[in-house]
Amino acid sequence: MGIVLLFCFSGYLLPWDDLSFFATRVGISEIEKAPFVGMWLAGLVRGGPDVTIDTIGRFYVLHVTALPLAVLMLLGIHLFFIQIQGVSEPDSFAALRKRRNGIINFLPNSCLANYRSGCFSAHCWLLWQRPSSRARAGSRSLCLGARWY
Ligand code: HEM
Repeated sequence: MGIVLLFCFSGYLLPWDDLSFFATRVGISEIEKAPFVGMWLAGLVRGGPDVTIDTIGRFYVLHVTALPLAVLMLLGIHLFFIQIQGVSEPDSFAALRKRRNGIINFLPNSCLANYRSGCFSAHCWLLWQRPSSRARAGSRSLCLGARWY
């Protein structure tokens, strides 16, 4: 999640328009407030005393090279651990395994379990996304925020 937030922060400067310039300036001024290392870190991120062409160079490299490499590395570690440890399964599968001599069929057992949890997640998401009565009435008060939210 931290990496995705860094993706968002660094990507936001890349269009290099007024909105992204001033938003990045504000974002970096927040870094300045960190105790002890704040000013140093902000200077490092900006590549100078203000947001300039040097900053966009740094953010571009971060956005299209360093962060994707970090994601690939984490993905590699994740897959490595899956290979080593295997995939965790519901307790009910352990009872099934005993009954069926250690074999669990993909159809219907695994498939049904995934279908159930998928339906549950989709349901929660839909309930959460349900537009409020104000939004249905066309209220503009919910339109505040950055363009990509
Ligand atoms: C989880 C992954 C990523 C997230 C959350 C993300 C997020 C963003 C955001 C928020 C912007 C600003 C868009 C705007 O305001 O118009 C942006 C721009 C950009 N991103 Fe990403 N990004 C991701 C991955 C990548 C990758 C992998 C690449 C290329 C290797 C990339 C290349 C770019 C470029 C070139 C722009 C500038 C687009 C423009 O100027 O209109 N992004 N990104």
